[in-house]
Amino acid sequence: MKLTYASSRKREFIVDRTTAYFGSFAWVVSQVMSGLCLVFAAFLALKGMISVGDIVVFQSYFNSISGNVQSIVNIYPELAKGLESVRSVSEIVLSDSVEDNRDKIQLRYVHGSISFENVCYRYPNADKDTIKNFNLEVNPGECIAFVGASGSGKSTIMNMIIGFLQPTSGTFKIDGKPIEEVSLPTYRHFISVVPQNSILFKGTIRENITYGLVNVWEKDFQDVIEKANINEFLGLLPNGIDTVVGEHGDKLSGGQKQRISIARALIRDPRILILDEATSALDNISEHHVQKAISSLIKDRTTFIVAHRLSTIRDADKIVVMNEGEIVEVGTYDELVAKKGHFYELKKLNEIKTDEE
Ligand SMILES: Nc1ncnc2c1ncn2[C@@H]1O[C@H](COP(=O)(O)OP(=O)(O)O)[C@@H](O)[C@H]1O
Ligand SMILES: [Mg+2]
Repeated sequence: MKLTYASSRKREFIVDRTTAYFGSFAWVVSQVMSGLCLVFAAFLALKGMISVGDIVVFQSYFNSISGNVQSIVNIYPELAKGLESVRSVSEIVLSDSVEDNRDKIQLRYVHGSISFENVCYRYPNADKDTIKNFNLEVNPGECIAFVGASGSGKSTIMNMIIGFLQPTSGTFKIDGKPIEEVSLPTYRHFISVVPQNSILFKGTIRENITYGLVNVWEKDFQDVIEKANINEFLGLLPNGIDTVVGEHGDKLSGGQKQRISIARALIRDPRILILDEATSALDNISEHHVQKAISSLIKDRTTFIVAHRLSTIRDADKIVVMNEGEIVEVGTYDELVAKKGHFYELKKLNEIKTDEE
């Protein structure tokens, strides 16, 4: 069963058209009936069989009955729409996975060592490689920061780590196993992603953090709230952790949303963490709070950060400087600054937020 946009649009069109026909038909029938009744009553009155007062009563009874009948009849299109929605949702839920994970290694635990060996990646239909000869060894628990101009391939690398993209050539290994041999759902069980723009759905902050999880211990939850530095702003909200936030989290600032996103990752206790730092400038106080949350998040996990903040980069075990899909420099902050190469130039160009200077 394959759900295509065209087929779903066509079916929606049919539902809308049926609803419209149905509504107008029901309306016409009721108006015609009401007219006929009036004519019939007038005829009876002319014959002297009923009084004019009776016509008015008769007509108002008719209107109230036909109104009720019409509202019962109008349930049908709503029902049809509801059934159609159930069908669309079940098509998605029951559709086959796009990834074939049969006969793959089921990971029961991930230690978090990652290696790229001569990895190249070319997007379908592209005429050159986006990632060229990428080599990187990461030990469990290390924090790797990626820096580089926009378009240098940072997101492509992150998508490979998540297993969305697989190398066109070369090998990407997780705990020594080539990614092609691993069952991706079992691997992703151990990954959390904190995206650049945190998406909140309509619900309480607690629901936004724990969605999809069963049996979250209150002690663990409180611990996460503390570590993600969410306690700091809960007092300002009308219902604390049970305050309902909107789909776009309108009541919250960018820094607060990001901390909720960090809590979401923390409570899942991942072995591998992908963090795309928001580029939008946070004020210094928010930055401080978010940074504190990030520090507790990355502790004891293999972490990959697309970094824009100086503080994050400073604490990284390795900084990978990328340019046009290639690694141009790798080292710690101090090493790279001393080298006065690409990283130094990037920092000078303010591609990296240098609020300390
Ligand atoms: N889906 C795609 N199809 C083709 N080219 C892409 C696609 N996504 C990204 N690219 C190209 O790959 C290069 C690297 O992009 P990306 O990894 O997003 O860089 P960064 O995250 O460092 O800004 C860019 O030149 C971009 O245009
Ligand atoms: Mg990107």
